[in-house]
Amino acid sequence: MKKLFVLLALAGVASAASAVDLAGNTGKVNVSMCIGCHGIPGYKATFPEVYQVPMLGGQSEKYIENALKAYQKGERKHPSMQGIAGSLSDKDIAELAAYYSQQK
Ligand code: HEC
Repeated sequence: MKKLFVLLALAGVASAASAVDLAGNTGKVNVSMCIGCHGIPGYKATFPEVYQVPMLGGQSEKYIENALKAYQKGERKHPSMQGIAGSLSDKDIAELAAYYSQQK
């Protein structure tokens, strides 16, 4: 009985730990809105023309941050990325950049 309790407690700790990890890395930002395009190796977006979607995982934090801010300001042009970057706050961008730079 005691063993079972220990196991349950450990399982609880494990899932709590991963929840903290995710929250710590991404805050309120929903990475799932990026994964649709950036999560698939070799994926090509077909709008407005066929585009190779760059992989974000493992990019430097600063690079991702700069890219998103450039889309926001219209210095870098891509309709979907400009739309998405425009909806992000500086804090969102910092969190997303931190999140992706830690991915392999
Ligand atoms: C509709 C598909 C789509 C979605 C959703 C999307 N992206 Fe992109 N993203 C692209 C494409 C296509 C490019 C390449 C555009 C270009 O060449 O400028 C790109 C480029 C980028 C770049 C520049 C990468 C580089 O190597 O220069 C960053 C950073 C980026 N996206 C971050 C994000 C983040 C963060 C999200 C989620 C908040 C996101 N994207 C959601 C399609 C998407």
